[in-house]
Amino acid sequence: MMDWLLEILACPRHRTALSASGDGGLTCSNGCHFPIVDEVPVMLLEEAQQTMDLAHVSMRKAKEATMDGRLYVESLGLSDAEKRGILDFASGQPQAIDPVVSFLVSATNGIAYKHQIGRLKDYPIPMLRIPRTVGKVFLDIGCNWGRWCVAAARNGYKVVGIDPSLGAIMAAKRVAKQLGIQAAFIVGDARFLPLRSSVVDYVFSYSVLQHLSRENVAVVVSEIARVLRVDGTCRVQMPTKFGVRCVYHQLRRRFRDG
Ligand SMILES: C[S@@+](CC[C@H](N)C(=O)[O-])C[C@H]1O[C@@H](n2cnc3c(N)ncnc32)[C@H](O)[C@@H]1O
Ligand SMILES: [Zn+2]
Repeated sequence: MMDWLLEILACPRHRTALSASGDGGLTCSNGCHFPIVDEVPVMLLEEAQQTMDLAHVSMRKAKEATMDGRLYVESLGLSDAEKRGILDFASGQPQAIDPVVSFLVSATNGIAYKHQIGRLKDYPIPMLRIPRTVGKVFLDIGCNWGRWCVAAARNGYKVVGIDPSLGAIMAAKRVAKQLGIQAAFIVGDARFLPLRSSVVDYVFSYSVLQHLSRENVAVVVSEIARVLRVDGTCRVQMPTKFGVRCVYHQLRRRFRDG
């Protein structure tokens, strides 16, 4: 694990410093233990009511994991057909695009990319308008396969991507490696950020908070305030209830739920 990451990591339960445990995981002074799977700390809290069922799958798979480069498709939140597609894709010829990203692309890039499922030629890395820097810490909450992490790392940031999906985080790690990007990834929950206080210069989150309850969003906001430096920046994107797109979808549903 990168040294700078260990310096800013904290127990998500007690917010205390962590050290390496004998079995290759991380431990806090109060006895909490977090496994590390293929260099990725898995820092979800078992006792928390998870925001997605696949967080449970991530924790279970992390305990079973061996370092065999598995795709963890069960923790991606995809349909059975999509999971089969990933596995078929992965077992075929070596591809330029990671098999998981090839199928996650519609979940992270919206319906505009639906026709691209299984057909991507390049990673769709978005333009991130942030000041160039050297070594400031950028936290991407709900990073999934890490498209914004890549964009931030290319602007000189030390990037930490966090998401409860083990499969998405492992895809992010593979993509970063393939693109020659330095970034750290953690399986974790926005409500219990596994970071010390006042260590992040830039908090970013795109299309995540609208999936959480109001109560959970309030917890996330207080966690963001805790980890952000006083002179730090926070940028959160989410649809607004009365934005053009939302009103369009509500009209289509004739203002019914679901
Ligand atoms: C629509 S995707 C957006 C992914 C990414 N931000 C992007 O723009 O490509 C929503 C993401 O939020 C993550 N998520 C759900 N609950 C979360 C939580 N409690 N903490 C952090 N991320 C969460 C999901 O796993 C998923 O990757
Ligand atoms: Zn602890």
